[in-house]
Amino acid sequence: MTAVDPVRPLAAPDHGVRDDFVPKDAYIDPAYVRLEKERLWPRVWQVACREEEIPDPGDYLTFEVTDESIIVVRMSDMSIRAYYNACQHRGRKLTEGCGTAKNFYCRYHGWRWNLDGTVRDVVDEQDWGGIDRGELRLKEPLVDTWGGFVFVNMDRDAQPLREYLDPIPEIFDPFEFEKFRYRWYKTVVLPANWKVALEAFNEGYHVQTTHPQLLRDNDDMTVSATFGPHSMFTSAEGNWPMGAPSRRLGLPFPDDLRPGLVRFVELMEEQLKAIWTPRDLAAARRLMTDLDDGSDPMVVLGSMMRFAAEAAIEEGAGWPNLGMENLVRAGQDWHIFPNLIVLPYPDGALWYRARPNGDDPDTCIYDIWSLARYAPGAEPKLTREFHTVWEDHEEWGKILEQDFQNMHAVQQGMKSRGFPGSRVNPVQERAISHFHRTLRRYLAMPPVSS
Ligand code: FES
Ligand SMILES: [Fe+2]
Repeated sequence: MTAVDPVRPLAAPDHGVRDDFVPKDAYIDPAYVRLEKERLWPRVWQVACREEEIPDPGDYLTFEVTDESIIVVRMSDMSIRAYYNACQHRGRKLTEGCGTAKNFYCRYHGWRWNLDGTVRDVVDEQDWGGIDRGELRLKEPLVDTWGGFVFVNMDRDAQPLREYLDPIPEIFDPFEFEKFRYRWYKTVVLPANWKVALEAFNEGYHVQTTHPQLLRDNDDMTVSATFGPHSMFTSAEGNWPMGAPSRRLGLPFPDDLRPGLVRFVELMEEQLKAIWTPRDLAAARRLMTDLDDGSDPMVVLGSMMRFAAEAAIEEGAGWPNLGMENLVRAGQDWHIFPNLIVLPYPDGALWYRARPNGDDPDTCIYDIWSLARYAPGAEPKLTREFHTVWEDHEEWGKILEQDFQNMHAVQQGMKSRGFPGSRVNPVQERAISHFHRTLRRYLAMPPVSS
């Protein structure tokens, strides 16, 4: 493969991206890794962690992306600060992983910083003859929170987080993601570019082939839409809710939605353990005894949500004040530029975060977060699983396994001389072409000054 002149693809009209075509360079060319490192990652809001991962004063966590490491720390007033993880003496990373600290101590020459970023100890400070302590403050990226997530941005001039996320906060504030907690947390090194991995979860078009078992009781025909740098996909038309067979099967709409709904939520619980919760499954099963078989489909779906809400409130997990109109507006799946995906539901949500793996365009670090509502204190103990080879772990569930089986094959196929670029579906995969237009706009910007 020839190295790409970073200027050439960026100078082309619309950067070579059409609604039905995405050039392949961005997935496989190391030039893009360098450009993204210089112009994308330092300029975007990205999730460092969730707030509950640093619940108490002194709790900290390090977030790594490309060559950067950022410490996020809980202060005594419960605010959150972020610092570049670099000792101001000779640059050693100050800390790693997560834990609780009274101060940050460098293990090379013993300098020490207070949690507020001011320097505390400079060993043999007199040798400098009056060093400017102000200059030794730990350097700070921006930090803000939304939905229980801690976001950081290395561009001090970035627009405010909420503005950047627009219209996502307005649509999802009613879901109260800040009250969700981890049901499970898995990170895996996938054998594909971070964008290949992300896009495997950024369209519903693959479901009919990659996850055929989902068609029996769930429609998979989708449309996609774009919002600023972000995008989403959702069901192609209303009046064909989950519990009914995919429209592509050509089967009639069921007289009784309930059995299909129970089967679908059972399948999701068995094969994914995300989005819908055990409480949703119990609510679906309750439909079979507490509702008439001829009920209107919207009544069936509304009742399932009401049954789940009753159980959640009784268990102390609480329930958001939202209705079917909120679910319709939220759709099925959102891409939050550049590297987050969310599949939302009132009782559970599935989040993905993709990051490059060093300078390797052919692999990425992929986080999968299943979140759900719990009564305070009833959430499971957080365990962060890390898997370097997805095939070595046997408990992904069938759905993620099916998705992972495409990763390496896509990454390799894209390198072929016989593959010019992705012929993305202009209706169902707009989220992908839009992603690449936005990405190229970022890559055409000047580097972020430090
Ligand atoms: S590099 Fe940190 S104290 Fe020297
Ligand atoms: Fe999938």
